[in-house]
Amino acid sequence: MNVDDVKRIAIIGAGDMGHGIAACFLQSGFTVTLRDIEQKFIDRGVAGIRSSFERFISKGKMTQEEYNAAFSGLITEVDLNKAAKDADFIIEAIPEDLKLKQNLFSELDKYAPGHAILATNTSNISITEIASATQRPDKVIGYHFFNPAVLMKLVEVIKGQKTSDESIKIGYDLAKKIKKLPVIVKKDSPGFIYNRVNESTSVLLSKILEEGHPTPEEFDAAFKSLMAMAPFELIDYVGIDILVHGMMYFAQAVSKEYMPSEELLTYVKSGNLGKKTGKGFYDWSHGRPVIDTSKATKEYDINHLIALQVNEATKLLAENVCDDPKEIDIAMANGGGSPFGPFALAQSIGYPVLVNKLEELYNKFKLEIFKPTAIMKEGNIKV
Ligand SMILES: NC(=O)c1ccc[n+]([C@@H]2O[C@H](COP(=O)([O-])OP(=O)(O)OC[C@H]3O[C@@H](n4cnc5c(N)ncnc54)[C@H](O)[C@@H]3O)[C@@H](O)[C@H]2O)c1
Repeated sequence: MNVDDVKRIAIIGAGDMGHGIAACFLQSGFTVTLRDIEQKFIDRGVAGIRSSFERFISKGKMTQEEYNAAFSGLITEVDLNKAAKDADFIIEAIPEDLKLKQNLFSELDKYAPGHAILATNTSNISITEIASATQRPDKVIGYHFFNPAVLMKLVEVIKGQKTSDESIKIGYDLAKKIKKLPVIVKKDSPGFIYNRVNESTSVLLSKILEEGHPTPEEFDAAFKSLMAMAPFELIDYVGIDILVHGMMYFAQAVSKEYMPSEELLTYVKSGNLGKKTGKGFYDWSHGRPVIDTSKATKEYDINHLIALQVNEATKLLAENVCDDPKEIDIAMANGGGSPFGPFALAQSIGYPVLVNKLEELYNKFKLEIFKPTAIMKEGNIKV
C-alpha cells in the first residue's frame, strides 16, 4: 500500500483531539468516519468542527463552498464495526489509558480491513504495548498531533518495535498530504520528542512547589515578558491533572525522579485543577490571572528552562530516539510556541552557560535528570 491508496479515514474518539484531527482530514478532501461511544459525544465533536470552520470563514481562510465540500465527507457512527470496516487508516484519540487503548486496538484489529493502518494519538504511552493487542503490530504507528490540531502543524510519526518502514512512510506522507509537518520518531520512548523534552521542566516546577519558594507568581513573573504563557500559568491552562498524569507515567516508565511532589498532588486532591475548575495555582474565576512582574524571582531565569530542554534533547540523540538534531528542533518549534528549537538556542547562548545552569539545578535538587549529559558538556552540536 502507498499513501494514494488511503481514501477513507476513521477517527475513534470525538473529543478535543479527535474532532480536531477529523477537521484536518475533511479540509483536505478525505472521507472521514467519526466514532464515539455515544451520539451526544459525536454531536459535540461535530459542533467543534463546525465552529473551527466558521472561524476560518470569518478570517477569510475558507470559503462557503470549501466548508460545504469538507462537511460532505463526514460520516458519523456509534457502531465501531461499521466505523472501521471500510477504513484504510484509523486514528485512535480516546482517553490516555493503556488498557482502554489495548481493548480498542484488539477490536479494531478484528473489524478493520487487513491492509488498514491503526494509528494512536497517545501523548506518552508505548506504541509497542498498544500494538501488542493486535495481530498486525507492523501496521500500528504512533501519530501524535498537537492541540488544537486544526492549527498546530507538528505530527510525531512514531515507530513501535514491530512497526514496518512502509507503515511509517504512509503515515508520514499522509501527514504531508493534509499539510502538516511530520517528524519521524525512530524509537518508541516515553513522551516521544516534544513531551519528553518538556517533562524535566515539570519536575523543576514540582520541586519548586516542594521547596515553597519562589511562589508560582514570583516564578512566572520572571518569564512573563518572554512567553505567551508563563510556566505555572500554562499548566493551569492545560490542567494540573494532565501534568500529574504525565509525570506519573514517566515516574513508572522512566525514573522515580519524575514523581510529582506532595505539594503538587495536593492541588489535584483538592480539585483545584486550574482554569477548568476556576482555581489552580491562580484564581481564574474572573478570567486570565494578572501576574505582577515586579515580583519576579532572581533565582531562576530563561537559561535554566532552556538548559533543561537542551539536556533532554541530547538524551534523545544518545538513545537513538531521533538521530538528527535538526528534526528535534523542528518538532520543538512546531509543537509549542517558541520560534526556535533547543539546539538552535544552545548554539546562540553557548553550551557552557547552559551546563552551568544545569549544575546549579543539580546541586540544589540532587536529581539525576538535571545532570548535564556528555553531549551537553562536549557542546559541539550544530544545527
Ligand atoms: N488534549 C491534548 O492536548 C492532547 C494533545 C495530544 C494528544 N492527546 C492525546 O489524545 C488522546 C485523546 O485526548 P483528548 O484530549 O481528545 O481526550 P477527550 O477526553 O477530549 O476525548 C476523548 C473522547 O474519547 C471518547 N471515548 C472513550 N472511549 C472510547 C471508545 N472506546 N471508543 C470511542 N470513543 C471513546 C470519549 O467519549 C471522548 O469523547 C489521549 O490519548 C491524549 O493523551 C491529547
